[in-house]
Amino acid sequence: MKFCASIPVKITLLGEHAVVYGEPAIASTIPRTIEMCIDVLEDKRIEVVSKGVYVELNRASFDRTSSRVSYSLNTDMLRKIFSYIVSGIELCEEFLSISKRGYSITIDSDLPVGVGLGTSAAISVGIVALCLTVNGYSPDEQGFLENVARLAWSTEKKVQGAASPMDTFTITFGGLRYIEPRAPLAHEIVSPTELPVLIGYTPKRMTTAELVARVRELISRYSDVGEFVIKGIGQLVQIARRCIEKGDLECLGVCMNANHSLLSLLNIVAPETDIIISTLRHAGALGAKMSGAGGGGAFIALARSFDELQNLARLVKNLGGEVVATRLGSEGIRIFRIA
Ligand code: MEV
Repeated sequence: MKFCASIPVKITLLGEHAVVYGEPAIASTIPRTIEMCIDVLEDKRIEVVSKGVYVELNRASFDRTSSRVSYSLNTDMLRKIFSYIVSGIELCEEFLSISKRGYSITIDSDLPVGVGLGTSAAISVGIVALCLTVNGYSPDEQGFLENVARLAWSTEKKVQGAASPMDTFTITFGGLRYIEPRAPLAHEIVSPTELPVLIGYTPKRMTTAELVARVRELISRYSDVGEFVIKGIGQLVQIARRCIEKGDLECLGVCMNANHSLLSLLNIVAPETDIIISTLRHAGALGAKMSGAGGGGAFIALARSFDELQNLARLVKNLGGEVVATRLGSEGIRIFRIA
């Protein structure tokens, strides 16, 4: 029996980095997805085929009896994707208390990997949900999504060493979420108006793990300043939640701008991101900030209305950035059975 899943990626509106230290964050899925499918194999191999515009057609295979791995192309990208797949399957089998099996997995994505849109988290959520489903845990059963979110978070921690639950919980449940990382919980935020946002990115020069380590080093060296920044971001997130719930876009924009300034103090904002952000603000965006780990990568701008987004998108393209979405998403992971 074959199962497939459509898994959205996400954007952080406020709170990245501080969420690693226990502060709340606000994130949302966006209407762009990664498609994944799973089938059980007769032998104990894990075979992954990934294709897409940014991820070339690649094949990787792991023999679970001999522990031999082979790659059609030994790229960093494929090795990285493969480590999330193998770890997710191991955690799923451990959770279900079942013995090792073989699986064939396909991944289809036209999204850039590693720019702050949560592609690694999406792959972790996807593999855990599909592995649970193909082994008999129905997505309709109570607690299914909670278990997917927790196991996908554990997958990210196992591969990366450290990760907050923000990306995996947002992607699992979908929509606009207030993340309490210590619980961990992802509360839905209900806004009276749809938020006119533009989400884009430029190439990223450092990995999330390197940027998280850079912030940790800075905070341990200057602990008073570090605490000021981290706690300040946490407070802005709480204010921003109230602004969203009241439909006060101006107030949300001010919080986003202030959050960007605090992130700048952590020395993780790339100059090209700063140029795009200040241009968007001068062009009328109510708020604009880097999003994700920094070092280039994703950014988000809030416009006064959906009509103004076209102009902002044109400016982003003129400055060499790519636009990935002009609204937030409402859905989390969706799983369906094929034949
Ligand atoms: C990465 O998308 C966001 C960070 O806060 C890391 C994390 O939450 O694990 C930088």
